[in-house]
Amino acid sequence: MSAPLFGTPLSTAAIKVMLLGSGELGKEVTIALQRFGVEVIAVDRYADAPAHQLAHRAHVVNMTDKAALKEIIQAEKPDIIVPEIEAIATDLLVELENAGQVRVIPTARAAQLTMNREGIRRLAAETLGLPVSPYAFVDTRNELEAAINNGIGYPCVIKPVMSSSGKGQSVLKSADDLDAAWAYAQEGGRTGKGRVIIEGFINFDYEITLLTVRYRDAHTGQVNTAFCEPIGHLQLDGDYIESWQPHPMSPVALKKAQEIAQAVTANLGGMGVFGVELFVAGEQVWFSEVSPRPHDTGMVTMTSQIQSEFELHARALLGLPVNTQLQTPGASSVIYGGIEAKAVQIANVAQALAEPGTDIRLFGKPESYARRRMGVALASANTIEQAREKAKRVSSAVIISAAV
Ligand SMILES: Nc1ncnc2c1ncn2[C@@H]1O[C@H](COP(=O)(O)OP(=O)(O)OP(=O)(O)O)[C@@H](O)[C@H]1O
Ligand SMILES: [Mg+2]
Repeated sequence: MSAPLFGTPLSTAAIKVMLLGSGELGKEVTIALQRFGVEVIAVDRYADAPAHQLAHRAHVVNMTDKAALKEIIQAEKPDIIVPEIEAIATDLLVELENAGQVRVIPTARAAQLTMNREGIRRLAAETLGLPVSPYAFVDTRNELEAAINNGIGYPCVIKPVMSSSGKGQSVLKSADDLDAAWAYAQEGGRTGKGRVIIEGFINFDYEITLLTVRYRDAHTGQVNTAFCEPIGHLQLDGDYIESWQPHPMSPVALKKAQEIAQAVTANLGGMGVFGVELFVAGEQVWFSEVSPRPHDTGMVTMTSQIQSEFELHARALLGLPVNTQLQTPGASSVIYGGIEAKAVQIANVAQALAEPGTDIRLFGKPESYARRRMGVALASANTIEQAREKAKRVSSAVIISAAV
């Protein structure tokens, strides 16, 4: 691909990018793209999603409905499609990419392989030979029990193959947990009942996201791989609550992490940011999963890096040079809705931001639920410990209530 010609949005010379998924990550990608004069079309399954509010055009479509998605793509004729979520009719993306009708970021195959835990796990473990937790795919409760008894053992983690953000996921400590864990996994899958992965529990010291960028080198024209500093994070019930960058790692563990990220992203191909999730214990590193797009834990880069993961994604997909350097130690702390409300008021923002080196993103989501991510607090400091404390002070200072 030669470097694209930049143009004027809403004219025949525009570069047109369609986002599939328009949440907080898509909103930041939209801003980054629009700074380069890109025309952005934002798609999501509900109206007034965060990126809808900024894009040149917005559409509400069930993106797992192949016919409906095809209709909107054919009407808009984007040059580039940027998936922001996993739940998409990815076979359509493969067809359109094969027909040369659109470029999918990073590739349609990457979107397809990562929407189902089985695709990416088999690729990582069986094709690439990367270290992963022991695993099995099963379709019934009896197969589950047999897989655990035949080698996975307890404790272990069950996950629907089509799910994200911890939905349907639980840890089994003994055979007593089998029935409840199986039932919960059957409710939590994106497409309802079905196949699950059972994984041996990795007793890691810490887990990281290694943001990895595939981009075109301006001098050589070759696709290169660049790594951001590791991002440490804390997960609660499968959802991230805090992240920080850089996470200190031994040189050996860092090298292994980068080699794993290099192998998996080179196989998925294309250009853009990948969030490679890894578990680390001592100098041992396990591949967990990968997002072929900016990662939620990477929101910290909006304060800690010279170019955030969203700018890196925009630049990489436009064929522009990237800079993955850290600017300062930083941290992010998620702001949950905490309440169910049709509209919210957010108080105490000025007080929360009174401390120097703090910032906030309020996503502008129309409705609040208890566990919905409504914003994120950001902080920079001299050490990650200070940055984490600061970010937590900001997120706990804001007060969300139902709008009257
Ligand atoms: N085999 C395992 N051993 C130990 N902990 C695990 C294991 N698998 C998952 N976890 C924990 O659960 C978290 C969520 O798991 P995973 O990333 O597979 O789920 P997810 O639903 O895809 O989450 P997300 O979409 O938020 O990334 C991990 O970040 C880790 O903290
Ligand atoms: Mg994950």
